Amino acid sequence: MEKKTVAVVGATGLAGQQFIAALEEHPWFQMTALVSSKRSAGKKYGDAVKQANGSVGWWAGEFPSDKTQQMVVQLSDDFDPESVDIVFTATEIAPSPDQQARGETKQSLTQAIESRFATARPTISTTSAFRYEDDVPIIIPGVNSNHAPLLKKQADRGWKGFVMPIPNCTTTGLAVSLKPIYDKFGIDMVLMTSMQAMSGAGRTGGVLGLDILDNVIPFIAGEEEKVQKETQKILGDYADGAITPADLKISCTCTRVNVQDGHTEAVFVSTKDRCTVDAVKEAMREIGRELTGLPSAPGEMIVIREDPFRPQPKIDRNAHDGMATVVGRVREDTALPNGIKYVLVSHNTKMGAAKGAVLVAEQLVQEGLI
Ligand SMILES: NC(=O)c1ccc[n+]([C@@H]2O[C@H](COP(=O)([O-])OP(=O)(O)OC[C@H]3O[C@@H](n4cnc5c(N)ncnc54)[C@H](OP(=O)(O)O)[C@@H]3O)[C@@H](O)[C@H]2O)c1
Repeated sequence: MEKKTVAVVGATGLAGQQFIAALEEHPWFQMTALVSSKRSAGKKYGDAVKQANGSVGWWAGEFPSDKTQQMVVQLSDDFDPESVDIVFTATEIAPSPDQQARGETKQSLTQAIESRFATARPTISTTSAFRYEDDVPIIIPGVNSNHAPLLKKQADRGWKGFVMPIPNCTTTGLAVSLKPIYDKFGIDMVLMTSMQAMSGAGRTGGVLGLDILDNVIPFIAGEEEKVQKETQKILGDYADGAITPADLKISCTCTRVNVQDGHTEAVFVSTKDRCTVDAVKEAMREIGRELTGLPSAPGEMIVIREDPFRPQPKIDRNAHDGMATVVGRVREDTALPNGIKYVLVSHNTKMGAAKGAVLVAEQLVQEGLI
């Protein structure tokens, strides 16, 4: 198969850097365009990832190849989406004072650039700009790939491509782990408290070292609402060109902790039918078995740990190269009707962002939707 050409928009950010790592030696895709804001445009990529003080700001493992370092970053306003087959977006746009005065927001600016790309090409997005629109699915391969035909509805917008967002990085591990429980036993209610890594805040908004050192921040703006709404949409039914959100109650508390990568979540589930710890583990082990032939798919979507001291972000986030949700401490919860509880770790910038988006693109190629 001839490789498809791809662009990474927001290539210098934390998620963007993970796109570089996921795509450097990809067997199906070839990076031919790196795109960012005017802060980086015109610079060689290796220089664009330097920080204001000249030090290298690189958080995605091995530094990129010489070839990638030499690529010149394009300005997103000038980037022609027709120059590639697929566009990946990972932007965090801060409106300028002028834009703010005109009433423009991060959301409206992100929608504007993603719709310009989607007019021409499939656009796989890590942003939230389009996630809650009726003609837009939020897909996790192995969980709700059956929602993908909804993408065709976006042709009604006059687009030749589409926008295909992946979930918020905190939603991903939660939705992956709930899916087998939901399918097998039904779910009435979910309670979740997250302990989210610093990289989840990106380099633009960021978390100040002095704020997070020796500390836990008990609030992440907008996060809880996103996780609740997205989980219901992902677990929802798709029929007749529409998604009906799953009818389950879900309540979250999202916190930021002093961890570089890997979101940890403590999850409590009240199921409709009675379930046992062993049956939940068995159902979790089965998920994602149909993901075959996709280069970025994990060998196991859920890895179950029996050691009560696991999962830990430091030692579990890179399971299956950061693409597996690692679950441990699965046990009965006696305070809830049909209660089950567990702890999970999911890599926020790999499965929860870049490599997760690459996996979605691979599945859309395999299904002939790209
Ligand atoms: N970090 C995570 O764990 C994670 C997980 C899932 C989803 N996401 C989502 O992914 C997106 C990126 O997050 P991040 O953490 O990587 O943010 P980040 O580290 O702050 O990076 C932001 C990126 O956006 C670029 N950018 C800013 N304005 C732009 C514009 N007008 N046009 C094109 N590019 C522009 C920046 O380029 P310059 O460097 O040139 O300014 C930079 O490459 C966000 O929407 C975030 O919600 C992040």
